[in-house]
Amino acid sequence: MYVELKDINKHFGDFHVANNVNFGIEQGSLVALLGPSGSGKTTILRMIAGLENPDSGDIIIDGKRVNNIAPAERGIGFVFQNYALFRYMTVYDNIAFGLELKKMPKDKIKERVNELLALTNLNGLEKRYPNQLSGGQRQRVAFARAIAPNPSLLLLDEPFAAIDAKVRQELRTWLRQMIYKVGITSIFVTHDQDEAVEVADRIIITNKGCIEQIGSPIEIYKTPETPFVTEFIGQSAVIEDYHRLNGFEKGDYKGAVIRPEFVEAFKSDNQKFKNVIDISEEGEITDILFRGNSLELTIDLNGVPITVHRSLERREVRVGEKMRVLIFKLFAFDDEKAYLLENSKLKERNINNEHLESYLYNENTNSFVI
Ligand SMILES: Nc1ncnc2c1ncn2[C@@H]1O[C@H](COP(=O)(O)OP(=O)(O)OP(=O)(O)O)[C@@H](O)[C@H]1O
Ligand SMILES: [Mg+2]
Repeated sequence: MYVELKDINKHFGDFHVANNVNFGIEQGSLVALLGPSGSGKTTILRMIAGLENPDSGDIIIDGKRVNNIAPAERGIGFVFQNYALFRYMTVYDNIAFGLELKKMPKDKIKERVNELLALTNLNGLEKRYPNQLSGGQRQRVAFARAIAPNPSLLLLDEPFAAIDAKVRQELRTWLRQMIYKVGITSIFVTHDQDEAVEVADRIIITNKGCIEQIGSPIEIYKTPETPFVTEFIGQSAVIEDYHRLNGFEKGDYKGAVIRPEFVEAFKSDNQKFKNVIDISEEGEITDILFRGNSLELTIDLNGVPITVHRSLERREVRVGEKMRVLIFKLFAFDDEKAYLLENSKLKERNINNEHLESYLYNENTNSFVI
């Protein structure tokens, strides 16, 4: 492990902002710290960087305990949420800043800055000031400045927070490619799950100062371990009386979560689903969002709004329309853990997801029109 946090505790007054935090990060990986606002993400980054001291525990970088090593000596690059570019310095001087601090010879600085301008696609902008740049360009300058001195670890605190959605999407891919190109171990903070899932190799989920789960994006998505992660990840709808749903019996659970990918919604006259209509629920469409390549329906299921995705190839639907809703599975949870429950009636009839997919397939038109 390249970076290790061992039994880290930190209080701000009475507030326990890091509660026995433990994790390790492998060299060369790109890790996301994902959690709601106030869950302690920034504080973890600041402790790694040495800008904040833990009350107890060890911070280890490359096998060495760094608790007592000054921030500037830790070999860390930091990209802050609000860019924190020097306003009165040009792009060139911003990128050169860390190199000048290191007293690198002028010609070497020039070489390195030019290399970074090319890498970050900022050629020609070196004489501009930050207020003459777009948000995306500023963020690239911040990235170039952070990696200029060749840090061995890069920390990024919500690097895209101040950038609008479209550019943000582009920057995510850009950042991922850049980090792999440079080959630098990186930790980035976000509260946006789509961002974490798209960008990171591994995700660490924080909640109220604790680590809830660590895993690959797919593991986090498919096997949430705690009630918090179950609700936090995906477009999850929480339902308390899940046992009233067809095919689900009461267990020692406090509630359950339904994700769009666990649900099929169809019109009651749809012959393809005639074998399962008796084990479906009735719901009513309360909202329809056009998502470009599909529709996102909100369906009211006995007072619980659930999200369902619908292919544009299928028959039109409208707000107020009654739909049948078939739930294949759900995540039930108690106080500590989450459990995947499958629809027992579908199981009894030996119907699995593959069957259901084939219901949707129309061989005549070679498409999924229903
Ligand atoms: N210097 C400080 N003094 C007192 N409390 C602080 C200090 N810094 C942070 N906190 C508190 O600690 C908690 C965690 O803060 P932190 O900034 O680490 O959260 P975060 O997960 O980064 O949140 P966000 O997503 O909003 O940036 C918050 O409740 C915050 O108010
Ligand atoms: Mg923060």
